[in-house]
Amino acid sequence: MPKQVYVAMSADMVHPGHLNILRKAAELGEVTVGLLTDQAIASYKRLPFMTYEHRREVMENLKAVSRVVPQTTLDYVANLKSLKPDFLVHGDDWQTGVQQQTRARAIVALAQWGGKLVEVPYTPGISSTALHAAMKEVGTTPDLRLKQLRRLLNARPLLRFLDIHNALSGLIIENTHVDTPGGRREFDGMWGSSLTDSTAKGKPDIEAVDVSARMTTLNEVLEVTTKPIIYDADTGGQSEHFVFTVRTLERLGVSAAIIEDKTGLKKNSLFGTDVPQTQDSIENFCAKISAGKNAQATSDFMIIARIESLILQRGMDDARARAKAYLDSGADGIMIHSRQKTPDEIFEFCRWYATLENKKTLVVVPSSYNSVTEEALQAHGVNIVIYANQLLRSAYPAMVTTARSILAHQRSAECDAQMMPISEILGLIPGTK
Ligand code: SPV
Ligand code: MG
Repeated sequence: MPKQVYVAMSADMVHPGHLNILRKAAELGEVTVGLLTDQAIASYKRLPFMTYEHRREVMENLKAVSRVVPQTTLDYVANLKSLKPDFLVHGDDWQTGVQQQTRARAIVALAQWGGKLVEVPYTPGISSTALHAAMKEVGTTPDLRLKQLRRLLNARPLLRFLDIHNALSGLIIENTHVDTPGGRREFDGMWGSSLTDSTAKGKPDIEAVDVSARMTTLNEVLEVTTKPIIYDADTGGQSEHFVFTVRTLERLGVSAAIIEDKTGLKKNSLFGTDVPQTQDSIENFCAKISAGKNAQATSDFMIIARIESLILQRGMDDARARAKAYLDSGADGIMIHSRQKTPDEIFEFCRWYATLENKKTLVVVPSSYNSVTEEALQAHGVNIVIYANQLLRSAYPAMVTTARSILAHQRSAECDAQMMPISEILGLIPGTK
């Protein structure tokens, strides 16, 4: 019986560094690859480009690999305990960083049956991170981008989206990250907000910016980013018009449209009952959802129904009745909106929603109840949190402050320190030089 060797890998883009590890592993015995599932990878870094099935196909066909099994967590212990390998082979790059604890736990587990950890020196000059950056420069396709949202929803319990209103805001969402002990944290995608898109164009958020103009903004963003987009389709207009919007969005590679159950002249929800707003009938809105679903060319595109009952003070019972009816009409998810200062009514809805048998993706927009944490939302079963307007709201006051400073001082020296240096803005966009 040959010695048993375990190697865990994401194997998204297999490069000579991976092959070096597998070669060393094969010298020690029969190699089982624990292939990290999308869920395991997404728990500490971005989703891999290739699906699990594609990655498995590559691994299974490598000479050094005898078999491939799924590893469903970043932690190795469960697989190690069930396979009890003689050796665990790993690159030595996990001695520091996010995987440090994982390594320590693996060593303790191996000791139980006398297994050994063998570490292979990191192959210099090639890394998945560098390959990933290169892939990002190449870009994406509408098809790949559209599918990203469903893949992310399957891989992670809570996704975070942030508002776009031009290409630059898209680039910020694409590139901004913070490194934490639990791994790299970034935004999962972009929210095509009607409020911030309209505001950036100097127009009110009343569907006055027509679909063609909204698509112009989307196209700008699509050109320079790769992350998925959820589009704020307002009321969706007439059902007969909405079907064309759905097809256009799919063609562009947008992953989802959210339509709200209002009718007539739409006003922004954050006005609540301070302005006249009319909620659509359940029957009409269900017909619109069905029309949209029937118009889809792909099975991946999502239509999410947004319930305005709490905004319009129609009560929780009305919100519940609508959620049930919208799901029955084929909606791929529910967005429940509130303008209260606390998340109480949202949590009440979430607790009820969790009991629904046919529940689907749940979306919230905590603009007014902004003290709520992502952790609390996740605990209440929320799948997507949308930060709907924060980028635009932070850009505008910064610009006004600068404009006022120039007026006050009749020169720009006083506000220079609060601005981005010229050298940085010249380097911000690749290809500027
Ligand atoms: C938007 O961002 O345009 C929205 C969310 O629809 S809200 O402004 O809260 O209505
Ligand atoms: Mg909107």
